[in-house]
Amino acid sequence: MLAAVLTSILVFGSSVRNVSGDKSLCPDGWLLSNETSYCYLTSDRYMTFAEADGYCQSLGGSQAFMMNSYEFTFMKSYTQGMFAQPWLGVTRNLTNNKWYNNDGTTPYSSWWIAGEPSLNGDCVSFKSTDKQGIRATQCWSIQPVICKQMPALCPDPNKKYGGLHTRTGNITSPGYPVQYYNNLDCFYSITSPNNTYITLQLDPYLVENAIDYLTIYDGPNATYKSLGKATSSSKLTFESTSNSVSLVFHTDKTVTKKGWLLNWNAKAYTPNVNQSGNGGNFTSPNYPNDYDSYTEQMYYFSVADGFQVNVTIDDFLTENRFDVLEVYDNYTIPGVNMIANLTGDSIAPWNWLSQSSHVTMRFRTDGTNQKRGFHGYWTIQ
Ligand SMILES: *[C@@H]1O[C@H](CO)[C@@H](O)[C@H](O)[C@H]1NC(C)=O
Ligand SMILES: *[C@@H]1O[C@H](CO)[C@@H](O)[C@H](O)[C@H]1NC(C)=O
Ligand SMILES: *[C@@H]1O[C@H](CO)[C@@H](O)[C@H](O)[C@H]1NC(C)=O
Ligand SMILES: *[C@@H]1O[C@H](CO)[C@@H](O)[C@H](O)[C@H]1NC(C)=O
Ligand SMILES: *[C@@H]1O[C@H](CO)[C@@H](O)[C@H](O)[C@H]1NC(C)=O
Ligand SMILES: *[C@@H]1O[C@H](CO)[C@@H](O)[C@H](O)[C@H]1NC(C)=O
Ligand SMILES: *[C@@H]1O[C@H](CO)[C@@H](O)[C@H](O)[C@H]1NC(C)=O
Ligand SMILES: *[C@@H]1O[C@H](CO)[C@@H](O)[C@H](O)[C@H]1NC(C)=O
Ligand SMILES: *[C@@H]1O[C@H](CO)[C@@H](O)[C@H](O)[C@H]1NC(C)=O
Ligand SMILES: *[C@@H]1O[C@H](CO)[C@@H](O)[C@H](O)[C@H]1NC(C)=O
Repeated sequence: MLAAVLTSILVFGSSVRNVSGDKSLCPDGWLLSNETSYCYLTSDRYMTFAEADGYCQSLGGSQAFMMNSYEFTFMKSYTQGMFAQPWLGVTRNLTNNKWYNNDGTTPYSSWWIAGEPSLNGDCVSFKSTDKQGIRATQCWSIQPVICKQMPALCPDPNKKYGGLHTRTGNITSPGYPVQYYNNLDCFYSITSPNNTYITLQLDPYLVENAIDYLTIYDGPNATYKSLGKATSSSKLTFESTSNSVSLVFHTDKTVTKKGWLLNWNAKAYTPNVNQSGNGGNFTSPNYPNDYDSYTEQMYYFSVADGFQVNVTIDDFLTENRFDVLEVYDNYTIPGVNMIANLTGDSIAPWNWLSQSSHVTMRFRTDGTNQKRGFHGYWTIQ
């Protein structure tokens, strides 16, 4: 009878205890802590310490103990108003008379309530009223137990993003755009069509700078060369050398932010068009057939020092505003030397005479609406 009353109080207690946000990441009945990123459950059943770990394991977890001061803070709010004193996975080693968490680490001395650890038992329960903290308890007494498990916060590491027929996609950090979680090491792998390479752009990138970070690898797993770490302050774009790239998002045990949105695109390899001498003809890739999506094609025209380049475009059709031919005097890309940014259906005929003896052009296309592109020629002047 007493146990039944206690149990119903406890159940009521846990149903009003809402110390975190998204519960759906944890199994039914477990609570996700946004402080620790673990799922917690307090048993309805009362049991001896010896039964506690087996009980938690039967539910897919293990007995909770506190790994750091953030978890202690969580435990205080989680057990607030609980009348029982639930077991934690902490015991006294009878040989050396020291206290150990189940993983062999030592509980912080400040977590013991006043006068503890006493000789009153070799197991530990959490005192949830008044001054909260841990206390030595007889292992044979019966208490509820707090179980804990790591929720599936990262996507399945075997999930493949992209594929041989996909040229673009977005990936976001777990919990985006609300907040990501602590204690993560999430793995992502992207592949794109053969004969393409992958560009990555992070926007926004809101993480605890330098402490939580995304590392980019130039291949299908983290054994490949690192292309660098994203940092809030500078590096936010990356480019692979082949059609696969992988990422690891690491977070530490404290402080989370909104996270990141990654937009990736596969770009076709298009060797530079380099021409020199007295003149040449040039076209967009595949012309007069449609160019490809996500193309980036460079053109370099060079004449002898002291001469100029006379560029004429006699046919031009691209998706207005999105597929663009940039024309630069000399080599600068991109910069003050851009003299034209050509797009749409009303460009040709177009003619321009360079100031310097070099002309650089860059043709860039997006993922939708391919057209026939352009045709032109240049002569030495
Ligand atoms: C966890 O959520 C609570 C309530 O929504 C909030 O006050 C607290 O700042 C959050 N903690 C972290 C670490 O985000
Ligand atoms: C208790 O501590 C002693 C001495 O450090 C050690 O040899 C022994 O393995 C420990 N026992 C347990 C059950 O951890
Ligand atoms: C990726 O995210 C950007 C920015 O939010 C959005 O404009 C774009 O449509 C998204 N692309 C895909 C393939 O979801
Ligand atoms: C892409 O390349 C791989 C490895 O070289 C090859 O096995 C596969 O058939 C190619 N796929 C396509 C669609 O060309
Ligand atoms: C990494 O990828 C390469 C090539 O696919 C593979 O041979 C290697 O076994 C992978 N290594 C790991 C640790 O997954
Ligand atoms: C084309 O010219 C550019 C600029 O001079 C140079 O960087 C590049 O290596 C050249 N490429 C080829 C294939 O000659
Ligand atoms: C450019 O094309 C025209 C017409 O097709 C051709 O006569 C000329 O020889 C070409 N010039 C070069 C440098 O290839
Ligand atoms: C540049 O070439 C075009 C087409 O061949 C020609 O009409 C134009 O006069 C030339 N410009 C100069 C400055 O010679
Ligand atoms: C060229 O024009 C396009 C579309 O108007 C624009 O998105 C792009 O930023 C321009 N490029 C430069 C370098 O100004
Ligand atoms: C063209 O660019 C080269 C290399 O960046 C530079 O050395 C040269 O001074 C530039 N010439 C002109 C006319 O801007």
